[in-house]
Amino acid sequence: MELSTKVITPEVLILAGCLACLVISHYVVSIIRSRAKSSFVSSSQPTKEKKVDALEDYKFPTPEPYPDWSIETTKPLPYRAFRYGPKYHVTMGLRSIPAQEWIELDNQFPKFHADKAARIRERGEKCVRTHPSAYPAALELVEELVNYLPARYPSLYKRTPVGIDNLWSGESFNIVQRPLAEDPMATAARLVQDDLALMLEGSDGRYYLMAGAVLLAGFWKLSDKYGMPLEEIHTSGSVPHYKEKLHTGMANFFRRLRCDQTYSRNNYFIQVDDSLPWSWSIGSEDSPETSWSTAEKDKAIQHHWFRSERQSLRRLPKSRAVVFTVRTYFHPITDIAKEDYVPGRLASAIRSWDDKVANYKGRETYGKVLLEYLDGQHAKQLERGLDLEKEDEVRAYPW
Ligand code: HEM
Repeated sequence: MELSTKVITPEVLILAGCLACLVISHYVVSIIRSRAKSSFVSSSQPTKEKKVDALEDYKFPTPEPYPDWSIETTKPLPYRAFRYGPKYHVTMGLRSIPAQEWIELDNQFPKFHADKAARIRERGEKCVRTHPSAYPAALELVEELVNYLPARYPSLYKRTPVGIDNLWSGESFNIVQRPLAEDPMATAARLVQDDLALMLEGSDGRYYLMAGAVLLAGFWKLSDKYGMPLEEIHTSGSVPHYKEKLHTGMANFFRRLRCDQTYSRNNYFIQVDDSLPWSWSIGSEDSPETSWSTAEKDKAIQHHWFRSERQSLRRLPKSRAVVFTVRTYFHPITDIAKEDYVPGRLASAIRSWDDKVANYKGRETYGKVLLEYLDGQHAKQLERGLDLEKEDEVRAYPW
C-alpha cells in the first residue's frame, strides 16, 4: 500500500498516459497501412498466410441488381483501354473492383450463348475440360454463379431448389443431381458471356490451369495451355516483357489474393476477321502453329476489328482455386472510330508499341491501313471542332 502511493506520482501518471497514446497510435497506423495495402497489388510486403486462411468461411456478398438491366437494351460497356504514347508500358494493370461487378452481362448475351453452345457441341474437350483434382473447384464456381447471377440479373436468372433457370433461353440447370448432365465448366460457361479458367496451387506453390471453358478466346486454345503453370502459359505465348515486367508481380499476386478481393484488368487487340470465337486469319484452330506472319496483309478497313478483354480474378473460399474470367468485347474498328477522341488515341497507342509488343499484336499485318484510317478519322473530328483539352472530362481509364 505504502509502496503504490509513493510510485503513482503525477509525473508517473503523465508518463503512463504518453506511453498509452504511443501504443494506440502505432496500432491505428498499422491497421490503416494494412487496409491500404490490400487495395493495391504492388506492395512489397507479402500478406501473411494466416490472413488468407482466416477467410475460409467467407461468403461472397449478394450483389445489388444491375441497374435497369435488360437483355434487349443494356449495351456492352465501352471499354477503350488504350493510352496515348509516346511509350507503351507493360504492366499488370490490375485494379480492385467491387465484388458485385464480378460478372458483366449485356444485350450480346444471345450471340455469346449461341457461339458457346456450338463450340461445346463441336469441339468438346478441346475447349472445355476439368481435371479431376479441380472438380470440387469447378462445382464451387457453378454454385457461386448460381448464387450471384439471379441477384445481379433477376430478369434473366431465377434460383430454383435444384439450381438455376435461364428465363430467356428456357434452360434449367440442375446442379445437385449426380452425375451432373455435363462438365461443370460447361455449365458455368453457358451461364455467362466470359471464358473461364480455374488456377489451382501446386505443391511447389505455383498456380496451374486445371479447368477451363475457353470458347471465345480468339487467339489461344485451352488444349495448348491446359495443365500449365501460370509462367509457362505466358512464356509459351511469348507475352512481351513477361519475365522482366510481369513474372514476379503475378506470382506474388496469386499467392496473396484473398477471397474478399476482386480484381480486374483490360487489354486490347486488333483482329483482321470478324470471328469472335477464333481469329482464323492467323491460321486454322487445329493447326499446331498459328502466327500473324500467315495473315493476309493490308486488308480493307472493314475487316479490322477491335477486340478488348475485361478480365477478373477472385479466389473461391472453399477450394481456394483462383477463378480467371475473360469477357471479350468485339466491335468493327469503323464503329469505335466514330467515338470522340478514339481514333486519335488509338493511333497514338498503336504507334507507341515497341517492337516486341508490335510483333505480338501483329502490327505489321494491319498497321498501314489501320493507321491511315485512324489518322483520317481523327483529322475529321478536329475539323468539326473536337477540343482535345476536354478529353479527360469525358473519359476515365479504361473507358
Ligand atoms: C495477374 C494476372 C494476369 C496478368 C497480369 C496477365 C497478363 C498478361 C498479359 C500482359 C498478356 C499479354 C496480352 C495482354 O496484354 O493481355 C497475357 C496473355 C495471356 N494470358 Fe495472362 N495474365 C494474368 C493471368 C492469366 C491467367 C490466370 C491465365 C490463365 C488462363 C492467363 C492466360 C493468358 C493467355 C493464354 C495469354 C495469351 C498468351 C498467348 O498469346 O499465347 N493469364 N497475360
